[in-house]
Amino acid sequence: MKGILLAGGSGTRMLPLTASLNKQLLPVYNKPMVYYPLSTLMLAGAREVLVITSPGDRQLFERLLGDGSKLGISIRYAAQERPGGIAEALIIGADFAADERVALALGDNVFYGAGFADCLDRAGRRQEGAAVFACEVEDPERFGIVELDGGGAPVRLVEKPAEPASNLAVTGLYFYDSQAVEIARSLEPSARGELEITDVNQAYLDRGQLRVETLPEDTRWLDTGTHESLLQASTEIMAFEKSRSSLAGSIEETAFRMGLIDRGQLKALAEELKGSDYGRLLLERAVQE
Ligand code: DAU
Repeated sequence: MKGILLAGGSGTRMLPLTASLNKQLLPVYNKPMVYYPLSTLMLAGAREVLVITSPGDRQLFERLLGDGSKLGISIRYAAQERPGGIAEALIIGADFAADERVALALGDNVFYGAGFADCLDRAGRRQEGAAVFACEVEDPERFGIVELDGGGAPVRLVEKPAEPASNLAVTGLYFYDSQAVEIARSLEPSARGELEITDVNQAYLDRGQLRVETLPEDTRWLDTGTHESLLQASTEIMAFEKSRSSLAGSIEETAFRMGLIDRGQLKALAEELKGSDYGRLLLERAVQE
């Protein structure tokens, strides 16, 4: 499966933080926000990743992530001229995906927890159709939501409903087969002028090919799209890492865990960062049995 990481957007909900800095490069505790969705894609099995940024920000991401070789993966870059909607990522990434399955991750979504890898594995085993990951929230009007019938099957998806009929949010990680590009190309922009990812998912549902995985209880999902949720995410990640003495959302640790780099390579990466607590935790991981 290939990975597409969408890290463009205008960041208006985060002004003035985003006046001169891309939102996905803001810190979530001790690492840039984009580390989390990139590690999610790696955990999902992506070895080739396309990072989509706004045209002016590409260099910043390249300086941070490079070509991926240090992590044992390949990273390429593409630009989104203006924020035309999340589904546009599938059109921009059409040549990259080249009829293979893709995992699309939103640059401001954080997932972590013990059961997450198994959940990804389950959803990733399906070769056809789409899979989305749902999670109960208290503020469903902020998200795309999914309505289920009495038997737990999805019946409808709605983007940011004013009067939500369900509190199950669709999170910012989507697995698609090769139909996704053609579906995205057939969409009309919504009232807010965007190609909506919810419409792509609804099209799969209409074809009877949408699977909804509810995130396991031990998996946390955090959308970091507002000032408050960004601060909450930082606090929560800090508490998690301190209680476990291990890292969440670390691209280097994930590369090691997934067998993409060996212990020596992890150690070398950790040495480069050992001036920080992050680097020290990574170094501890590299010498752990
Ligand atoms: O976080 C999950 C939610 O993400 C889903 O429940 C919604 O269905 C989905 O539409 C999306 O809603 P948001 O309002 O949170 O999307 P937002 O505009 O904040 O964009 C999410 C990320 O995608 C953010 O990191 C910026 C990036 N983005 C967004 C758009 C619209 C782009 O790079 N380009 C774009 O055109």
